[in-house]
Amino acid sequence: MSGATSGKPVSRAIIAIDGPAGAGKSTIARHLARHFGLLNLETGAMYRAFALKALRAALPLDESSSLERLASQTSIRLESGEAENRVLLDGEDVTGLIRNQRVTDAASRVSVFPAIRAWMVRLQQQLGEQGGVVMEGRDIGTVVFPQADVKIFLDAAPEVRGMRRFDQMGPAAAIPPEQVLRELHARDERDRNRPDSPLRPAEDAVLLDSTNMTLDQVVQAAEAIVARKMGVCL
Ligand code: DC
Repeated sequence: MSGATSGKPVSRAIIAIDGPAGAGKSTIARHLARHFGLLNLETGAMYRAFALKALRAALPLDESSSLERLASQTSIRLESGEAENRVLLDGEDVTGLIRNQRVTDAASRVSVFPAIRAWMVRLQQQLGEQGGVVMEGRDIGTVVFPQADVKIFLDAAPEVRGMRRFDQMGPAAAIPPEQVLRELHARDERDRNRPDSPLRPAEDAVLLDSTNMTLDQVVQAAEAIVARKMGVCL
């Protein structure tokens, strides 16, 4: 990323946070949005909501044409909230139904199809076009908003991301850590190797590796990146 500031007020900025599962994107995006007074939009929740609909319809998740048909009859809305985003699927609030392992896996599968991605990207561009957003996902800095004012690619070693995920899930999930790691690895592979908009840092993204950092340190580093790029004091 160049050293020049964007010249835009931070209240109109588009901040893109990309990275693999379990890197801490949601937490960092939430902190940045609160700190700079921006909307926080979590695009993974949109893929998750569509995956939930495909599962409910018992569609094969490897068949683009039936998924495309389903997409043409689907409305997905994402609303920014203090703690998390609210996701409305055809008007139904599905926020509490999209975080389980079945939907997580399905979201990664349906998101490989170009037609599904093109639809989602359009929705996300509409949501963010006015600026004033922290948008988090896999392809925000590369595809959705290549002109974003700030791009952060947040990463961490796979074992660290796996353990963070395991801790987040808590004992109620009753899944052993090895399985969490295996599933995270499979999702990483799919997200990084799909032909259409694979997960990768934009050329002008700032890489932030949180493997050996505490949450506070990552938050501070991310705030400093935004402040520097937008030319504001912390
Ligand atoms: O960020 P998440 O774990 O909620 O995302 C769920 C899946 O959605 C992820 O495995 C890949 C897909 N996804 C995507 O392809 N592009 C995005 N911008 C966000 C998520």
